[in-house]
Amino acid sequence: MSNILHFETLSSTQTYLKEHFKTLDDKTVVMADEQTAGRGRFDRKWISQPGGLYFSVLLKPTQQDFLANLTQLMALSLCQAVESYSLQPNLKWPNDVQVNGKKLCGILSETVMQNGKIACVVLGVGVNVAQTDLSHVGQPAVSLYELGVRIDTQDLLQQVLDLFFQKYEAVLSEGFSTIRSAYLERFPFLGKQIAVKNGTTALTGIAQDLSPRGTLVLQTPRGSQEILIGDLLV
Ligand code: BTN
Repeated sequence: MSNILHFETLSSTQTYLKEHFKTLDDKTVVMADEQTAGRGRFDRKWISQPGGLYFSVLLKPTQQDFLANLTQLMALSLCQAVESYSLQPNLKWPNDVQVNGKKLCGILSETVMQNGKIACVVLGVGVNVAQTDLSHVGQPAVSLYELGVRIDTQDLLQQVLDLFFQKYEAVLSEGFSTIRSAYLERFPFLGKQIAVKNGTTALTGIAQDLSPRGTLVLQTPRGSQEILIGDLLV
């Protein structure tokens, strides 16, 4: 079981774990009721008012071949937790969870390097739980409350952690293939025309597959391209 540290306010649960990882155990979880400087992917802000679930998990993995797939495992765990409330969420590669095309959860994965090696991974998760105004989010977003679900943030956290740690060791040692079929069942974009943005460049094509490594295979007019990281523009 994980050790959960609960704060009323933090600048960012990510920053807290990155600053304190040396003195904290593997699998320590930090949650905050609000964050004053929450961060999202690609240096975006993650506005974190009370009502959302904001947490980060400290991981000190001994095997490091499949670290990128841990975000996908977290996304899948979130999706499965949300399904238990009779909702039909889906995964937006690589690690967003959405409902009816609106963002419900986001995940940020960061690593801390020491002496040229990865000392730890910090997986941060934001879930829109009870917010009623998400107009600040730069894309369509929705909360569980707006979807008719009333859930305590701590119960949701425990459910997500249970699902995540059930599969953690398998993904760590064998990678995406252990969750590929469960992920694909929740990935509605295969065979569809999509655009993927990576930094300032956007690639368009047909989503052909998710490879055994968890990368997106995009069929473009110039042939098949394997994409490691990006944002799906859908
Ligand atoms: C995204 O851009 O979609 C990822 C958002 C991740 C936000 C979470 S909230 C808890 C943790 N602390 C942060 O500062 N960011 C992550």
